Amino acid sequence: MSLLIIAGSSREDSINAVLQQRIAAVATAAGEACHLYAAADLDAPLYQGDYEQENGVPSNIQKLATAINDVTKVIIVSPEYNSSIPPLLKNAIDWSTRLPQNPWQGKTVLLAGAAPGRLGCMRVLTHLNTVMSAVQSWVAPMFLSCANASAESLAEFDQAAIESFIAQGG
Ligand code: FNR
Repeated sequence: MSLLIIAGSSREDSINAVLQQRIAAVATAAGEACHLYAAADLDAPLYQGDYEQENGVPSNIQKLATAINDVTKVIIVSPEYNSSIPPLLKNAIDWSTRLPQNPWQGKTVLLAGAAPGRLGCMRVLTHLNTVMSAVQSWVAPMFLSCANASAESLAEFDQAAIESFIAQGG
């Protein structure tokens, strides 16, 4: 089995990038082959149908699809913006479903996120659950939401949740 961990924030001091690294450390210790996908590599023009007609699907999105196709499971690590999905991530997901082969179809996906607030990322993760179900992935029934998080401390990181996700069949 192998695991792709996608970061949803390209900010330099991103707490979600820290969470991505923390998940990778746990997964690697559990013997999983981990691949990290940087949020900067999700960057693509805002989806627009006429742009698509003229230019096709952007190269970063083709790269993302290849990375997804190459693994058994995916973890998406997303910030929460106004209770919902950051545009960088939503745009990349929308573009990816314009490829001839939807890379998410049948893929097992765990949704994760970190936020400084006491509610963590539960609201964005429920929105992502709707979107990822719509693109026909199998979304794990538990979310990994780290509340009260900072780049220095992911105090509420749930290591057992990652180990459980890895232990389950793909
Ligand atoms: C936020 N933030 C935020 N946090 C939260 O818990 N719930 C929310 O709805 C929002 N909304 C929101 C909107 C916008 C536009 C920004 C820029 C930020 C705060 C957010 O969780 C915080 O900035 C994180 O540090 C962002 O994640 P990264 O970039 O550190 O990974």
